[in-house]
Amino acid sequence: MRFIVACASVIALAVVTVGLFPVHASADRDDMVSRGRYLTNDGVKCVDCHGARLQGMQLGFMRPGMPIAYYAPKIAGLPMLSQPAAVRFFQTGLLPGGGRARPPMPQFRFSRSDAQAITAYLRSLR
Ligand code: HEC
Repeated sequence: MRFIVACASVIALAVVTVGLFPVHASADRDDMVSRGRYLTNDGVKCVDCHGARLQGMQLGFMRPGMPIAYYAPKIAGLPMLSQPAAVRFFQTGLLPGGGRARPPMPQFRFSRSDAQAITAYLRSLR
């Protein structure tokens, strides 16, 4: 039993350590931007809702009368969020005011390094 607890603590510590010191922290900016491009276009497909060039898109497939958004805003250049606010949003789903984006925007829980990569990529766009 003690052994299992010890193993669990080691694993928990490893997880926390990896979380605190993300491998991508030292990666240079270009790597981060291309990883963000990959996550955004191929990984999670933000493009499905925010439009092919992330310029914003009307969501015709949503049913009226539901507490949801019918428009996915332009996120190229991330006009609505500062860099730290964007990283926090992609990690926690929390907006600066403490609220959340309405459905169908997913409540993302990206790792810190992925959130930083997505933010770097979106900020590199116009
Ligand atoms: C299923 C559709 C959908 C997908 C997939 C999606 N979004 Fe969204 N997103 C939305 C909608 C709709 C809104 C507007 C929400 C609102 O108005 O409350 C939104 C809002 C946002 C906002 C603005 C938040 C704010 O109000 O400041 C950002 C930033 C964003 N999305 C980024 C992303 C990124 C990055 C991805 C991919 C990793 C993504 N979204 C994937 C639908 C989507």
